[in-house]
Amino acid sequence: MGPPSRRLRGGEFGWSSTRTAGSVATCGDISLPVTPLTLVRGVRSRSLSAVRRARLLASRLPALRVLPPRVALFHARALAHALRVDDAFALQSATRPADVATLLRLARGRRSVAELGTAVAWTTAALALADPGRRVVSFDPVVQPHRDAYLRLLPASARERIELVAAPGAEGAAHATEPVDLLFIDSTHERDDTIAEVEAWRPRLAPGAVVVFHDYDNPAFPGVRAAVEALGLSGAADGGSFVWAP
Ligand SMILES: C[S@@+](CC[C@H](N)C(=O)[O-])C[C@H]1O[C@@H](n2cnc3c(N)ncnc32)[C@H](O)[C@@H]1O
Repeated sequence: MGPPSRRLRGGEFGWSSTRTAGSVATCGDISLPVTPLTLVRGVRSRSLSAVRRARLLASRLPALRVLPPRVALFHARALAHALRVDDAFALQSATRPADVATLLRLARGRRSVAELGTAVAWTTAALALADPGRRVVSFDPVVQPHRDAYLRLLPASARERIELVAAPGAEGAAHATEPVDLLFIDSTHERDDTIAEVEAWRPRLAPGAVVVFHDYDNPAFPGVRAAVEALGLSGAADGGSFVWAP
């Protein structure tokens, strides 16, 4: 029998779901060609009009300028795919390019990364794409239906450095085979869950590691700041996240 199911809360993103934790998800093996045509094709959708999709895509593309070119191209293709398949969850939940850029700056030189809260894996992909020597393990008890399609937009050389585990973030620490030098916490955003994640991962942090708490500055998620304060962490806000260097 597998581990017990757990009720998850997701605030504005509607992540509420009951799943069984503990299984390991792997990503597929097909890569789509990177051409302008792929982007155009990606803007077909069943329910949004072509004009509206094109407008949505165009409105989001300028923000990608802050990302390294390879990451920006991935995000553009992922956005186009999300519009084509009407993946509203991806459009709402994926970390915005400015915050991804901050995370990539903090991740520079860090080769072993754990992310708590995979969602559609766009940030997971960005972390892998930004450094060819980096391994990324990401935990989420909920497997999003289009997640693997986004991962198939990656070259195999990036995909093979990503491990996705279908388990809650706090349980994820038990899966860690090596210390991590960056922990990105972006899961339930609840105070008690965040505290539990920090406590579980603290022994798995490499010397010099940093922990990034996403949405620290977001009034929609007061639990993140409450957790940082309850834990008495000394650090600094950076681009909407809180950065703690234990
Ligand atoms: C805001 S989304 C993550 C966004 C993603 N990190 C990104 O940068 O695009 C939050 C995710 O946390 C997941 N989640 C909910 N409870 C969780 C838990 N206990 N541990 C890890 N992830 C959890 C949800 O399923 C959802 O996919």
